[in-house]
Amino acid sequence: MPKEIKVLVCGAAGKMGKSVVKAVTAETGFKLVSAVDRRENPDIGKDIGIISGIDKVNVKLSGDLKEAISKTSPDVMVDFTMPEIVFTNTEISLKSGVRAVVGTTGMSKEDINELAKIAKQNGIGAVVAPNFAIGAVLMMRFAKDASKYFDNAEIIEFHGHKKLDAPSGTAIKTAELMTEARKEFGKDTIKGKETFPGARGSKGPGNLHIHSVRLPSLVAHQEVILAGLGQTLTIRHDSFDRTSFMPGVLMAIKKVMQIDHLIYGLENII
Ligand SMILES: NC(=O)c1ccc[n+]([C@@H]2O[C@H](COP(=O)([O-])OP(=O)(O)OC[C@H]3O[C@@H](n4cnc5c(N)ncnc54)[C@H](O)[C@@H]3O)[C@@H](O)[C@H]2O)c1
Repeated sequence: MPKEIKVLVCGAAGKMGKSVVKAVTAETGFKLVSAVDRRENPDIGKDIGIISGIDKVNVKLSGDLKEAISKTSPDVMVDFTMPEIVFTNTEISLKSGVRAVVGTTGMSKEDINELAKIAKQNGIGAVVAPNFAIGAVLMMRFAKDASKYFDNAEIIEFHGHKKLDAPSGTAIKTAELMTEARKEFGKDTIKGKETFPGARGSKGPGNLHIHSVRLPSLVAHQEVILAGLGQTLTIRHDSFDRTSFMPGVLMAIKKVMQIDHLIYGLENII
């Protein structure tokens, strides 16, 4: 392990990217060497410290991931971009010998499997996590445990109104984990009439209904409601601020230096 892990942040001018820039520059053992955003960003060429609302860090925002990798030789690329571009960015990174920590949501299972293959072929580490908040990971773990005892459950997730994908990566991951404990939920729920299509939410794995709320001011929140005879159990997690994700991101950057394959989900590294 090097004394300082050299980090490239992709999507650096976005909300999460700026938080990662602040976290990486504030923490010893990490060195921000590169910041990338989309080519059309009007701030390309400006110092990413200033863009992020901190002091100058002497790293200029670049519009070209490949060029940034070849110029700054990072150890790890951290991606918080968009569902349409995250696969390509991660592929570029892994094929260039740069480990990847990926927080961008919206990738399909096939995409993640393909990235796992590329990581293995190149003998290089990657961590892909739909939620870097430790509390959210515990919420998922508790929901999986509780699923052994309750045969009815629904998931409600709440995010800001600009989120591009629905349901959230966390809701999908929660549903997948819950179906490891119980194959099918809500067997006895009758199929009623939906006056407005979608009123009952989407049907995820194991017949779990998932409801996606999108409103301004929200960050990332989720409730799992489990129900049995005469009782319900509600497990809720709230990320009020993007700083909630940073301990998990820094942990993943350290972890990815020690592995030679892809790990999906923060629960597999805490
Ligand atoms: N895993 C987690 O814990 C977690 C937490 C919060 C958000 N997210 C996810 O992270 C992603 C980013 O969220 P956000 O709120 O920061 O969004 P955002 O829109 O504020 O930021 C995205 C950034 O990516 C940039 N971008 C777009 N195309 C690019 C390209 N080709 N190359 C480089 N940069 C590019 C955009 O210009 C923008 O600056 C979303 O998918 C979101 O769901 C994950």
